[in-house]
Amino acid sequence: MTGRLILAALLMLVAGGCGSSGSSECQDYGNLFNSPSGLILVEGEHPTGWSRPDCFMCHPVGDIHCTNRTGIPTLDMAQVRAVVDSLGLASCPQCHGINGVQP
Ligand code: HEC
Ligand code: HEC
Repeated sequence: MTGRLILAALLMLVAGGCGSSGSSECQDYGNLFNSPSGLILVEGEHPTGWSRPDCFMCHPVGDIHCTNRTGIPTLDMAQVRAVVDSLGLASCPQCHGINGVQP
């Protein structure tokens, strides 16, 4: 009984931690597919970060891609994190467009 409680508490810690740093917060901009442009960044929906290439300044890598809010069951967030982990900043345009950054 006690063992089970401890396990449950540990699982909650893991889920709440989200990423490398335990103090990090999962970023939440809702379901990105609710807007016409979907995942692709456009100036009107990304006024603060538009035309900036330094995504991690505002979106620390451990704080993004924690949760699937798209309602698409086949979307595998673990796979998204794996792509981002291996390619870093170079991966972002593949899924979010170039964000107004001249290549
Ligand atoms: C200066 C800070 C800053 C930088 C740099 C930045 N962003 Fe953002 N990002 C934001 C903010 C703030 C929001 C919330 C929408 C807004 O107010 O612009 C956001 C929202 C988003 C969203 C959700 C968009 C939506 O439709 O709701 C995505 C995806 C995103 N950013 C990706 C990126 C990527 C990729 C880069 C780098 C190419 C980047 N951001 C650079 C601050 C930034
Ligand atoms: C393989 C595709 C893919 C790549 C590569 C990718 N993203 Fe995402 N990103 C997504 C998807 C899908 C979502 C929507 C997740 C959800 O439901 O909130 C998302 C959501 C986001 C959000 C909104 C907050 C959140 O966590 O949901 C931000 C910010 C963001 N991405 C930034 C980035 C940055 C910065 C990079 C590059 C380092 C990047 N993404 C690379 C697919 C990708």
